[in-house]
Amino acid sequence: MPEDYFGEHVAARYDESAADMFDPAKVGPVVEFLAELASDGSALELGIGTGRIALPLAQRGIRVHGIDLSEAMVAQLRAKPGADKIDVTIGDFATTTVERRFSVAYLVFNTIMNLTSQDEQVACFQNVAAHLQPGGCFVIEVGIPDLQRLPPGETVQAFTVTPTRLGFDEYDVAAQGMISHHYWIEDGKLEVFSAPFRYVWPGELDLMARLAGMSLRERWSDWNREPFTSDSRQHVSVWEKPASPSR
Ligand SMILES: C[S@@+](CC[C@H](N)C(=O)[O-])C[C@H]1O[C@@H](n2cnc3c(N)ncnc32)[C@H](O)[C@@H]1O
Repeated sequence: MPEDYFGEHVAARYDESAADMFDPAKVGPVVEFLAELASDGSALELGIGTGRIALPLAQRGIRVHGIDLSEAMVAQLRAKPGADKIDVTIGDFATTTVERRFSVAYLVFNTIMNLTSQDEQVACFQNVAAHLQPGGCFVIEVGIPDLQRLPPGETVQAFTVTPTRLGFDEYDVAAQGMISHHYWIEDGKLEVFSAPFRYVWPGELDLMARLAGMSLRERWSDWNREPFTSDSRQHVSVWEKPASPSR
């Protein structure tokens, strides 16, 4: 089982620390996009966390099933109104199975990068394909690796610098790895959190989808379907499982 970086301490502060991502103006288009794909009214969220997307999606009448490693994140979800409509399985979303099949599976907020090896990311696509109905879709929201902003020879790139918070990514380009470091002041004390990621390119994800028998259906730069271009900093991609098994 991969290491759980979302223990009690992180889980208790997650919604507050990611407050901008809970803004209804950000959540609304995600829910709209996913609800359209949930043709039979069922959805699987990998890394469901505290229910940022799953709860409003369930409120739209979609039956959401979640998978997450972190008991602490899921406990936060369970404490929220509407959580009784959502089933959650604790486990690694690259390998955990549930007995249902879904019309859409989704993995948002860069969470594919929490799988820190190519093998795990490939396994995740294969696991998702096995959980989709024929014609079902897999949706990923993830950043484009920021390597264009990393000068030659440098390995560190800051993403937050304020008087009370410092965040920077430390790149290992040869290994396609990155560690995100966070330092912040809380109640007058220095808090520190670091977690490893594997950044991944859109074309590599397309190949993982092909290995799992799926093909690219759409790629946008955001949930409002703005075009994906050379300047896009992230993408929302949808891969589709064939409607009928190929011969
Ligand atoms: C950045 S949070 C995103 C939570 C939620 N999807 C959201 O958008 O707010 C990542 C979540 O994925 C979970 N996670 C990370 N790696 C995982 C893995 N290999 N298997 C299952 N859950 C994982 C973490 O426990 C955490 O709840």
